[in-house]
Amino acid sequence: MNDLFENSAPLDPPREVMAEGAILLRGAALPFAPDILVALDGITARSPFRHMVTPGGYRMSAAMTNCGIAGWITDRHGYRYDRVDPENGFPWPAMPTCFLDLAVSAAADAGYVNFVPDACLINRYDPGARLSLHQDKDEQDFVNPIVSVSLGLPAIFQFGGLTRSDPVCKFAMRHGDVAVWGGPSRLNFHGVAGVKDGHHDMLGSKRINLTFRRAL
Ligand code: SIN
Ligand code: FE2
Repeated sequence: MNDLFENSAPLDPPREVMAEGAILLRGAALPFAPDILVALDGITARSPFRHMVTPGGYRMSAAMTNCGIAGWITDRHGYRYDRVDPENGFPWPAMPTCFLDLAVSAAADAGYVNFVPDACLINRYDPGARLSLHQDKDEQDFVNPIVSVSLGLPAIFQFGGLTRSDPVCKFAMRHGDVAVWGGPSRLNFHGVAGVKDGHHDMLGSKRINLTFRRAL
């Protein structure tokens, strides 16, 4: 029985349809992960993780930074993209080639062949951190998909519909998984349930999410 599987050609990474236009590529980031983690250290040395504040005055439980031409920020004045890190006044660190390569290839795998991101939001979830249901809608237009990469501790990703009250499907996102959503699901509500404590061999007790977007 085992021989039959061992001798067969490697299978494509499993893919799951999350909704129309939304695809989960299991393990698609695994070959990129070592390079990504090295590059991430370079990014956070210049633009460290910080807990931003929502317009309503709440401190976000996920710590964030960015790389690319534009970075997503929130403060008492609102949600928006800025070319400059407000903490230091310098442009955000450039998007490393390994980040860009992963985002472009995952988008193409999911059927979005012309995607070239100009922004990457980097979220760090320490145990207990979460992200409530929201839409990604601060981008200039919604023609391009979102590419979302999970690294480190697992988390439950909630993927709903176009209104907040639509039912959500839950997906266990593990190290190396990549979700891509665009087209009819580009504005679907999504969020992350509280990350459970644990240990990951490469990342220790945290989850990192990279969210690639065409913002400008
Ligand atoms: C986000 O929606 O910005 C992040 C999603 C995630 O952490 O999986
Ligand atoms: Fe989001």
